[in-house]
Amino acid sequence: MKEGQQPFAESAVKAISRRTLLRGASAATVAGMIGSRSLARTGDGEKPTPSSASGSADKTKAFPDKFLWGCATAGHQVEGNNTSSDLWLIEHLPDSMFKEPSGDACDHYHLYPQDIGMLADLGFNTYRFSLEWSRIEPEEGFFSNAELEHYRRMLATCREHHLTTLLTYSHFSTPRWFAFKGGWQNPAAPDLYARFCEKATRHLGDLVGYASTFNEPDIPQLLNWITLPGPQGTNLAESLQGSLGKIRKQLNTPEFANFFAGDAKKIRDGLLAAHHKGKGAMKSVRSDMPVGFNLAMSDDQPAPEDDHLAAKRADVYAPWLEVAKQCDYLGVQTYSRTLVGKKDLPPPKGAETTQVGWEFYPECVEHVVRYASKEAAVPIIVTENGISTDDDSRRVEYVQRALAGLKRAIDDGVDARGYVAWSLLDNFEWMSGYEPKFGIVAVDRVTQRRTIKPSAAVLGNIARRNSL
Ligand code: BGC
Repeated sequence: MKEGQQPFAESAVKAISRRTLLRGASAATVAGMIGSRSLARTGDGEKPTPSSASGSADKTKAFPDKFLWGCATAGHQVEGNNTSSDLWLIEHLPDSMFKEPSGDACDHYHLYPQDIGMLADLGFNTYRFSLEWSRIEPEEGFFSNAELEHYRRMLATCREHHLTTLLTYSHFSTPRWFAFKGGWQNPAAPDLYARFCEKATRHLGDLVGYASTFNEPDIPQLLNWITLPGPQGTNLAESLQGSLGKIRKQLNTPEFANFFAGDAKKIRDGLLAAHHKGKGAMKSVRSDMPVGFNLAMSDDQPAPEDDHLAAKRADVYAPWLEVAKQCDYLGVQTYSRTLVGKKDLPPPKGAETTQVGWEFYPECVEHVVRYASKEAAVPIIVTENGISTDDDSRRVEYVQRALAGLKRAIDDGVDARGYVAWSLLDNFEWMSGYEPKFGIVAVDRVTQRRTIKPSAAVLGNIARRNSL
């Protein structure tokens, strides 16, 4: 790549075909198609530093040195064909709670070299992704070296591209044998999870930048606060509980439970114990590996009349914020704000909403980062933030406002070390299927063609110059 080349034009949207990707297009070829980075390399495995070609740095807009700029994915949402996972199983049941099955997803399992190259060429220095436990341990006690090697190759590819890796060991899905035994409610779950953490760290740990035990372990508790639309006013947790009954009947597995469905309190206790044991197992192999987890945090605000904010915070976040105090960092994941009454209230009348019905509210990043940093008092990384929309210009505005807020917090002394967008790719949005579009890169579900959206260039260029 030549010095002085312009960063990727923000107005350009280019498509990369599956054929091109599968032909084994090197990162350099992809870079040629989407424009090149003007980066000074600092050495193997180190993060790139912006060169002068990015324009003169305005100190008032600059982020701290070594700031992590990345995108995130999760195994089950992008890899495709996770046939040994609990979710694959229930996606395919008649009358499934999933709108559609995950299927091939984004075929990231095969296309990761090109996707990671694309991420780096866009200007990012960080990639957050997750391990699929069900691939690594498809049957209880059988660990697949071949699958561990797959993830090792992914980590090595990141290193080749000078990307720091944030590796999530568990992002919602589990092996189906684990769910058959009661999932996180099973008293043996923490030990089973710790054994997996130990094996994975032994195989992969030397290539990991930051490890996370769990993605959003507060979700089971959070579901109790979410009321579904409709006259009965049932909450999401109750509705999932109903589905669980049907699943158990259909599968003839009375113990079946997983991350989303079961007894929220038991699941939380299981996850808390599994976090401690899992973290211990990781540290026993690599004591210097930074370990934390990723907390789902809405920007909760008191409902004007009937405020239950303190109760929600105590119920959902407090136990985990306490745990975060013992971690090396805390990942916070936020998308919008929520007015909290007895339950979470719908967005205010007239507010702009996104495809999944959340309020368009980018200032959530600033508010949540300030709150989490004050409570946990450890370094914060924004490990997910973004919106689902078909109108990418709304995403551009969202990201710019979110980052302006993050910068205000940092200027006020908040120790925030990175911003990771959700998501790199339009992907499988769990029960909502493929309709919500969270990606900065679109994916054609048939051809697997990737199309870079303007927001990818906007964010990538901010990342490249480490400045707004
Ligand atoms: C999860 C992602 C999900 C995103 C958008 C987060 O709760 O970690 O897996 O796709 O939000 O809903």
